[in-house]
Amino acid sequence: MNFTVITIFPEILSALQVGVLGKAIEKGVVSVEAINPRDFTHDRHRTVDDEPYGGGAGMVMKPEPLVAAIEHARALHPDTKVLLLSPRGTIFNQQKAQELSTLSSITLVCGRYEGIDERVTQFVDEMLSIGDYVLSGGEYAALCVIDAVSRLIPGVLGCMGSLQDESFNDYLLEYPQYTRPAVFRNLPVPEVLRSGNHSHIESWRRFERIKQTLFKRPDLLSKAHLSQRDVKHINSIIKGIPWTPK
Ligand code: ADE
Repeated sequence: MNFTVITIFPEILSALQVGVLGKAIEKGVVSVEAINPRDFTHDRHRTVDDEPYGGGAGMVMKPEPLVAAIEHARALHPDTKVLLLSPRGTIFNQQKAQELSTLSSITLVCGRYEGIDERVTQFVDEMLSIGDYVLSGGEYAALCVIDAVSRLIPGVLGCMGSLQDESFNDYLLEYPQYTRPAVFRNLPVPEVLRSGNHSHIESWRRFERIKQTLFKRPDLLSKAHLSQRDVKHINSIIKGIPWTPK
């Protein structure tokens, strides 16, 4: 998978050099390259911004260098999907990450200053937002997208199994995890996890995924695929009945 990031601050991408993503880049499973819109300017100051038409605060990114950079990315990667990071985009979530992880090339266009000239949106395939808040630039959003998408690509994570039960998969949050010691500051690890009974552990984990989701993100539950047993779990959770092996 290739990621091309169109940014006037390519140094921000160095954050990708650490951890599993850094390893994936080293192995060549993922590649990340930057295209700087300043390289597509024609003045001495390499100007990428200008005052907004109609007045107002801040500067607006000019369309020419950004669109020239997008066209360069498309020439390098003819099958690339061009995504513009913007708080006005559709919300990026796990399902979107899964969809994007099947592509061979993604170009992420990062805006800075107060915004970008609206006409640039005509040259991208889609606009994506990482949440309902405003960042000082699309670069941080691009890092989130690159991370969330890359870890779904085979060969990036050591163990693909770790993707199976994690949050948002199947619209359920993940179950709580514990490691040694068995008791920490008077807080014991749930007995079932130390029982060695794998079908009980599986049942408890499912119960906990449903409980976490019901309490923290009830909006997700309506989209989750729930079995009759899951519905029974929900009724128990609402009544305050704890998990039992039966
Ligand atoms: N640029 C600024 N804020 C953003 C957001 N929330 N998502 C994506 N890009 C952004």
